[in-house]
Amino acid sequence: MCGIIGYIGFRSAKEVLLKSLKRLEYRGYDSAGVAIVDGKINVAKKKGYIDSLEFDFDGTLGIGHTRWATHGVPEDRNAHPFLDCKGEIAIVHNGIIENYMELKEKLIKEGHKFKSDTDSEVIAHLIEEHYNGNLKEAFFKAIKELKGSFAIVAISKNERKIMAAKKDSPLVIGVGDHENFVASDIPAFLEYTNRVIVMRDGEISELTEDFVHFYDFNGNEINKEVQIVEWSIEDAEKSGYEHFMLKEIYEQPFALDSTLHSLLSRNDMNFDFGRVTIVACGTSYHAGLVGKYIIEELLRIPVEVYYASEYRYRPNVADNSLAIFITQSGETADTIAAARKAKASGNETLAITNVVGSSITNYVDKVIYTNAGPEIGVAATKTFTAQLMALEYFAIKAGESMGKLSASHARDLLNSLRKVPMYVENTLNLNGIIKKEAEKIHKRKDMFFIARGMNYPIALEGALKMKEISYIHAEGYPAGELKHGPLALIEEDIPVIALVPEDITYDKMLSNIKEVSARNAYVIGVSSSEDVGKYVDTLIKVPSTEPHLSPFVNVVVLQLLAYHTAKLLGREIDKPRNLAKSVTVE
Ligand code: G6P
Repeated sequence: MCGIIGYIGFRSAKEVLLKSLKRLEYRGYDSAGVAIVDGKINVAKKKGYIDSLEFDFDGTLGIGHTRWATHGVPEDRNAHPFLDCKGEIAIVHNGIIENYMELKEKLIKEGHKFKSDTDSEVIAHLIEEHYNGNLKEAFFKAIKELKGSFAIVAISKNERKIMAAKKDSPLVIGVGDHENFVASDIPAFLEYTNRVIVMRDGEISELTEDFVHFYDFNGNEINKEVQIVEWSIEDAEKSGYEHFMLKEIYEQPFALDSTLHSLLSRNDMNFDFGRVTIVACGTSYHAGLVGKYIIEELLRIPVEVYYASEYRYRPNVADNSLAIFITQSGETADTIAAARKAKASGNETLAITNVVGSSITNYVDKVIYTNAGPEIGVAATKTFTAQLMALEYFAIKAGESMGKLSASHARDLLNSLRKVPMYVENTLNLNGIIKKEAEKIHKRKDMFFIARGMNYPIALEGALKMKEISYIHAEGYPAGELKHGPLALIEEDIPVIALVPEDITYDKMLSNIKEVSARNAYVIGVSSSEDVGKYVDTLIKVPSTEPHLSPFVNVVVLQLLAYHTAKLLGREIDKPRNLAKSVTVE
């Protein structure tokens, strides 16, 4: 998984590529590189962040890449772009070429010399093998030989054009005046144009400064429409916040409001199913777990939740089940593979995603968009709460259309959702208290997050946020399970963060708190009840909500706790080590 950009026009390619790569850095940051045509192809590439890439050549046609390593360690030699033997062709690639070993062996026999351990380098040599002075022709021939997933952008020193191909990895075109762009996503070029064409799988595009043509892999020309993107580049920048993550935490009231409003305008939410299967990865999986509680409560039908990477080991089951795929990026490879499998098994499929036109939308019957705006921080925050909003809305509408909820009950529930942005806004006011707690706990090696019921997935999410950005070992646990093992790990001063909503879990949570307090743990209670203060070392008093909405406020506290802890430890909050925002490998 990587970020790629191509530019052809009149501006400084150096400036365009570097700016675009910065905006794509969330897709991976193991290495960065550019190739710019100026009579010859000049290449600069380096292990590490884009900021460490220095060079003094320029031109008006070039390509760039920011890498998340799959084949080959993160080293200069494995950084993109890759050149052919003669240095006439340069390519960048996002995805995995599954038959690269076979192609590489064949090309080596033909006399090609390889410089990297990557699967991607084979593409440059393959184009060279077919090149007879016509990049377009050679590109088509090379693409036909590739197996796997790819977004590829190629240039030649001899022709003023860019060729790009897409299969299972994202690629969008930015249409300008006397300039055109191709990139892994829209923010990469949004500063220059908001006219966008989303490429679909099996498409090739040919760009010059004056036109963009589209073809299928057989060379048949395709007509495609330009879409206008409404969000601005400021939406994708930090707006004065120190980190994207903090900005995105604070954007939640707005993101939730705009998600709800976009949902309220839909009139196609009619369903009929007997079971639900939810499939997702990472934070989206935790949203799916909360979704299970919401749907089972309102619809009284069974819901199973799978990690996408595990769903593939499930036998094909057509069980009148609606399969829901939750993925903020819409590009997570495991989730897409699972959606394909569910569809092939005959299930009705629905995706919940934040990215319009993302890959997952090609593989499902219906899509619900969260409208949270671009999320850049690797740790998902506002897209998570927007997913919860989408699941609440889905459950209400499905309940109504299936006759499980009366119209007035559905209306009351929808009205309660309108208050969520305000609840979250009020929770953000607790930032100062949460920061003080982070100061108390940031030097600890281990932490526990405990809860019951629909807040149990929030405990998992709190622990995930803490480990991914602070690198502290943190575990989320159903509070009732502590006594079956983890209690043995509770010792003096170990932080235990306990979520105590005023719902059916309240009394039992207090008993579980007593169990850990008796072992001298340092207990932070998160509750709307003042009374909880008597049982814990510190109470973070959150706004009181309808019981089914407590996950929205509790997760905001845990997001801020992880953020401040990571900041005190001086971590790379927006780009934690070894992780990437969008994981397009299985
Ligand atoms: C990566 C990100 C997580 C995200 C997960 C699933 O691991 O770092 O923040 O939750 O992928 O991503 P998706 O785009 O499918 O929701």
